[in-house]
Amino acid sequence: MLDPIQELMDEHRIIEKVLTALTAAAHQEVPLEFYERAVDFIANFADKCHHSKEEERLFPVLEEKGIPRESGPIGCMCDEHEIGRGHVQRMRELIKEGDLTGLRRESLEYVALLKSHIQKEDNVLFPMGRGVLSKAELEQLRVKFDEVEDGGQCHHHYNEMAEELLAQVGLPV
Ligand SMILES: [Fe+2]
Ligand SMILES: [Fe+2]
Repeated sequence: MLDPIQELMDEHRIIEKVLTALTAAAHQEVPLEFYERAVDFIANFADKCHHSKEEERLFPVLEEKGIPRESGPIGCMCDEHEIGRGHVQRMRELIKEGDLTGLRRESLEYVALLKSHIQKEDNVLFPMGRGVLSKAELEQLRVKFDEVEDGGQCHHHYNEMAEELLAQVGLPV
């Protein structure tokens, strides 16, 4: 069984490829299409696939095990997901306006948010989760995560896209 918490951490590594690509893109000329693909990645992989595993599947179980939501790590993570959605919304508007300067600024704010968010999950919340979840609960979570995946297609597609975005800004994969 692939440990579901490890799966979330592996997804962080895929998301970080796009954060790296966005950072490099802010310091060079890239076409609008680069940002269209980055927004597709963020909305469909980082948010729809990854954050929904966290918000709808992992966090409720952690709450049941006594990790607090309000004024605690779970609430903080959910607030940051919501702030990220605001950045994505603004990036969509900037794409429509063809505003590359605005896209550079907005995407760097998103990168800063997500980098620190991922650090907190990897180093604080997920280790806490491992400490409170039994083997049986991890297995149940595994089943719930599999419901989100379409046989790994989503992963494969978006990992390729992340690597293409890196290549587009001249970075090694
Ligand atoms: Fe998260
Ligand atoms: Fe995450």
